[in-house]
Amino acid sequence: MDQKKKPYYITTPIYYPSDNLHIGHTYCTVATDAVKKFKELQGYDVFFTTGTDEHGQKIQEKAREEGMEPKPYVDKIVKEIKELWEKLDIDYDYFVRSTDEDHEKNVQDLFQKLYDKGEIYKGEYEGYYCTPCESFWTEAQLGEGHTCPDCGRETHKQKEESYFFRLSKYRDRLLKLYEDHPDFIEPDFRKKEMINSFLKDGLEDLSVTRSSFDWGVQVPFDPDHVIYVWIDALSCYLTAIGYGKDPEQFEKYWPAQVHFVGKEIMRFHVIIWPALLMALDLPLPKKVFGHGWILFNNDKMSKSKGNVVYPEPLIDRYGIDALKYFLLREFSFGNDGSFETDKFLQRLNSDLANDLGNLVSRTVSMIEKYFGQMPKPGAPGKYSKELEDLALSIADKNEKAMDHFQFSTVLNDIWTLVRRTNKYIDETTPWILAKEEKMEDLGTVLYHLAESLRIISILIYPVMENTSREIRSQLGITGDVHLEDAKKWGLTETGVPVKKGKIIFPRLDVEEEIEALAKAHEDLIAMRKSAHTGKKAEEKEEKLGKGEITLDDFEKLEIKLAKVLSVEDHPNADRLYLLQVKIGDEERTIVSNIKKNYKKEDLEGKKILVLTNLKPHKFRGIESAGMVLAAEDEDGNLSLATTLEELKDGAVIS
Ligand code: ME8
Repeated sequence: MDQKKKPYYITTPIYYPSDNLHIGHTYCTVATDAVKKFKELQGYDVFFTTGTDEHGQKIQEKAREEGMEPKPYVDKIVKEIKELWEKLDIDYDYFVRSTDEDHEKNVQDLFQKLYDKGEIYKGEYEGYYCTPCESFWTEAQLGEGHTCPDCGRETHKQKEESYFFRLSKYRDRLLKLYEDHPDFIEPDFRKKEMINSFLKDGLEDLSVTRSSFDWGVQVPFDPDHVIYVWIDALSCYLTAIGYGKDPEQFEKYWPAQVHFVGKEIMRFHVIIWPALLMALDLPLPKKVFGHGWILFNNDKMSKSKGNVVYPEPLIDRYGIDALKYFLLREFSFGNDGSFETDKFLQRLNSDLANDLGNLVSRTVSMIEKYFGQMPKPGAPGKYSKELEDLALSIADKNEKAMDHFQFSTVLNDIWTLVRRTNKYIDETTPWILAKEEKMEDLGTVLYHLAESLRIISILIYPVMENTSREIRSQLGITGDVHLEDAKKWGLTETGVPVKKGKIIFPRLDVEEEIEALAKAHEDLIAMRKSAHTGKKAEEKEEKLGKGEITLDDFEKLEIKLAKVLSVEDHPNADRLYLLQVKIGDEERTIVSNIKKNYKKEDLEGKKILVLTNLKPHKFRGIESAGMVLAAEDEDGNLSLATTLEELKDGAVIS
């Protein structure tokens, strides 16, 4: 790494591993990637982090629904996410997974540090609990009649032991941070939102552990608790640059220059994150930028509505550059925007095929036809100066707009040059100059076109790297791309061969494409569904007994006869019992969901079969040391398994 270059650390959010990311998810990553490339053109040493936020109750439940353990479940999705970033040519430097060993260690260390400093204390969390969603809500968050804001069902008041972070004491320091560093939150209107919604009326301490599930990083000094997913996720930004492992690299890149995040997770990044860093005595990021959402036809994209726009069909039909250009040109980064297929196609036709595509193909064809190589410019012509001045002014403008991540302005400014250059062709009519054999003037005109395109190729590079390379290759331009070179006129080498290549953006028939795209989406969804049901069917077949296991596999199971001593209701779950069982000399608690099938008195004193060497698992805060075995028929009738003859408890099944 070049030590002289200034370090510049940027991040996307740490994504939940949800399958089939849509264009909204790609928005922030595409934007961050463009920032990386832009800053590199300016000469910065950029480090770009993305990753996945893999712990938490929801993931655990999803994995269970798929009949999988959480880790293999997330592994599968993370692989797909990485493939998508590769398909989009996202040039990240580090992909951090919250399940990485070094990260989990960091989370525990940070938690311990906070606890040792008195920033975290043990208390009781009281809230409204939704049993089906297994989520706590505050009174203010509830729907009408104390209902769950997620599923609409009734909630009940419940207490749970929890550790708390002293967030409340940071309120004034946060307000001062926003005042002293007016650029910390961008766009500015989000700052007002944050202050009015969360800080104006005071801040409460934050519950930072959970004991009702166990798919998370354990509190180092209290294994009944796992650390709140947001502490886990936010600190990924530190792990990625070597916190706890490579102090030199960490010192070099921290603090981050910008965290790019969606508007709904601003609160975590501008309130909780800086407060945690203050508590840890770590420097604060310089900026958090909250971008808007991409809607579809002004509606939120959702699988159930069937209006999700996936990036794959767009990339496959029109290429990465077209998608990136549209996302960053069409929408203003801080605000919501609506994806509409016809708008997308029209922009491709007007900006990419008509404006840029035509300019490249006209310029290259004329140079090839009239000179076969890059011509020498003659004396400046009537329109030369105006074109030069405009071309040389764009890089500065782009730098200013990029200071505030106004991608749309950046691209719009570049396109004023693209259009001006096309107009220059119409003004100078090179085909007439050729006919009249005014070769020196023709050389001036064509050289100006090539120079303007060279500058355009630099300016579009952060968003459209492939197109930039294609233009440079057709014009015979070699060497690295630097923003400084877009501020200089006359760098195009003369005498080099110029050769027409492929059409960079062919014109599209909008009607035809709307139909073809809809079909491509349907096919993609159908393919994903059938891949999923195919896999499910295979798994089911295996479960039904067609998959063979060896005797060794069977011998791994320890199944014993257990006597039920007592049965209690699970305090936190309506459908679960806690069975106290005796297995020989040993007593254990087993959590079981047989409440709907058995009354307590029908179970007490009975002997039942139990899988005793199953890894202990917590169900809603209570650990189950084993699993009761039962048979279930097609009609859903369930009967606990036992032995034909009465044997002593502790008897082993073999
Ligand atoms: O929130 N338009 O992860 P996530 C634009 N794990 N952006 C969208 C979008 C849309 N339609 N839909 C989603 C999380 N996003 C946490 C982050 S960071 C320490 C932890 C954006 O996978 C959303 O705004 O739910 C967010 O910034 C990002 O996708 C990841 O969301």
